[in-house]
Amino acid sequence: MTIRERFVESLALLGVLVAGAAWAADPEEVIKYRQAAMKALGGHTTAMSQIVRGKVPFNGQLEGHAQAAASLTQDIPAMFPAGSDFGESDARPEVWKKRAEFEKVAGDSSKAAGALAAAVRSGDSAAAGKAFDGFAQTCKGCHQGFREK
Ligand code: HEC
Repeated sequence: MTIRERFVESLALLGVLVAGAAWAADPEEVIKYRQAAMKALGGHTTAMSQIVRGKVPFNGQLEGHAQAAASLTQDIPAMFPAGSDFGESDARPEVWKKRAEFEKVAGDSSKAAGALAAAVRSGDSAAAGKAFDGFAQTCKGCHQGFREK
């Protein structure tokens, strides 16, 4: 192996190590991240509600909120890795004990968010309102069984 090849190989190895470190994130940091992401999701949901209920005229912003919600909900299970069930978290033990059900309700939320984003893009405001209601239900659908309070 030439020195150049060895250099390239060690760079590749470094890349693998860095990627590995990103996966094994500190559980406390994961908890902080997911609570911030959930708060953001709450903000987008409240903002969308104001628009679809006709209380404010910011219809041009609806698509951005819907896309953000679709993006935030698609990785919910990954935001609750094993070993992140302590401290300031309001996640119930069921998140890990009833994992299949948790992943199912997370998937339902993500699907509903995708449908909402599509309805908003179609420009049909009645369809968007209906899709928003369906999406908003999925928050409760998970919180009831998987979140304290
Ligand atoms: C698949 C389950 C699931 C879905 C779906 C879900 N959540 Fe959550 N959410 C949780 C759990 C579990 C927590 C507690 C996280 C923690 O404290 O570690 C949480 C926490 C929150 C919090 C509190 C964050 C904080 O600590 O300040 C808000 C706000 C929130 N969710 C909003 C929403 C909204 C709005 C939706 C729907 C658009 C939603 N969530 C969908 C499971 C879910």
